[in-house]
Amino acid sequence: MVTISLYKKHRVGKIEHEIFGAFIEHLGRSIYGGIYDPGSIYSDKDGYREDVKDLVRELGVDIIRYPGGNYVSGYDWRDGVGERKVRLNLAWGQTEPNTIGTHEFCDWAKSIGSKVMLATNMGTGTPRDAGEYVEYCNHAGKTALTDERAKNGRAEPFGIERWCIGNEMDGDWQIGTKKANEYGRLAHETAKIMKMVDPSIKLTVCGSSGPGMPTFPEWDRIVLENTYNEVEFLSLHRYYEFPYADKKRVGDFLGSFVDFDAFIKTGKATIEYVKAYKRSRKQVYLSVDEWNVWHMQEGNRQKEKWEVESVLAENHYTAIDAIVFATLMMTLLNNADCVKMACLAQVINVIAPILCEHDKKAIRQTTFFPFAYGSKYAKGYTLESLSDSDGYDSIYGKVPYIYTANTYDDNTGELTCFIVNTRETESEDVSLCFDGFDNLEFTESFTLDYNDKFDTNNLGEEEKVKMIKGDAARKQSDGRFAYTAKPLSFSVVRFAEK
Ligand code: AHR
Repeated sequence: MVTISLYKKHRVGKIEHEIFGAFIEHLGRSIYGGIYDPGSIYSDKDGYREDVKDLVRELGVDIIRYPGGNYVSGYDWRDGVGERKVRLNLAWGQTEPNTIGTHEFCDWAKSIGSKVMLATNMGTGTPRDAGEYVEYCNHAGKTALTDERAKNGRAEPFGIERWCIGNEMDGDWQIGTKKANEYGRLAHETAKIMKMVDPSIKLTVCGSSGPGMPTFPEWDRIVLENTYNEVEFLSLHRYYEFPYADKKRVGDFLGSFVDFDAFIKTGKATIEYVKAYKRSRKQVYLSVDEWNVWHMQEGNRQKEKWEVESVLAENHYTAIDAIVFATLMMTLLNNADCVKMACLAQVINVIAPILCEHDKKAIRQTTFFPFAYGSKYAKGYTLESLSDSDGYDSIYGKVPYIYTANTYDDNTGELTCFIVNTRETESEDVSLCFDGFDNLEFTESFTLDYNDKFDTNNLGEEEKVKMIKGDAARKQSDGRFAYTAKPLSFSVVRFAEK
């Protein structure tokens, strides 16, 4: 028996809905062959796939980061507006027709009800390019650039509030990698210009692209020391897979969230250090603007270099991937005091919760479910959770058998408990001890349903892995609720004040 204690007024932090953001890049079949696929029986008259749109709506994505990723470090935004130029996508070895650019992507995002966060090129781009991009998108007055925007069909500004200053600039794989001080200086000057154009925008500066980087966490400190006054967010990126791609290392893989939590807490500590060093009252937050499960060796079938629609990073997610994914999402929620934005990388075909083929209807991958249920039910505040769960050792440290994230919404009086049992063969009774709530009653529960931990959902087939209605949480004589978490399970257990 594991006891989880929650007190209504003890809160980690407010959950900004931007935690349920995502990321779409010009990579593989994400844009071409993903959201845009003229000639597909599922596409509308303009070539956009309706089935994909329906699923992205259902996924519940608040904000989408675009157009990269590594791609952005060689991207000239001018190639994607007005007259289009066919270019090489050097980051991914593809040909880029630029059919989809800022206008098309923003219209698409609007049609599915998501906001857009744009990234600027800090690899080959300049502070002036970034400033002009903000002017093109956001300036309301009449200038040469806004005239061009109007000529391209958009008289009104796009009103893009959030911007990233580059992508993973600490990685040698990045076009135009920089040393921390070089990037810090450049980001500082770029941020100044961008905010001179539009002071209302919110900026994200590139933090570390992973705790495995030799530059981590010095990079984050140096970059923030250069930019603390100009930016609102420090970005972190992190992907997990079976350690050494060894699918027998189930326990280690399930422990990924322990490492993710430590990574986030180091980012938070670095922000606090720089805040103190600067004697600043301003609070910078974290934007984990790339996170996911990514089996890096899988799903790469690029026939030849410079194809437009190469098959790259098309992971076929399993039930266990969904459970690890759920724990990562829950870790974001459990750090809601400092994580105020996050982007699931990515959305369609490329390391994605949605998979489609030209004439095959888009499907929900296994990882679709934790995100969709999180986006729908994780509202209000994350509560502090006290747990007495025992655990096991992993390469990332001790992994609790029962891991939870618990959210409470003052507006509705709803409490949602996300519960993962990391044990493969044993169920666990969880005793939920609630304090300070008014007449809390169990309302509903959902659980991930599958037969084998390596089950996948496949195009053209019934869903093998899906969320189903779960068991009730049973009210005990002492006022606690008991919920049985099945072996290797992800459940969403909901209560409401009556
Ligand atoms: O999401 C795929 C790639 O992963 C992104 O382009 C890059 O930023 C990261 O390394």
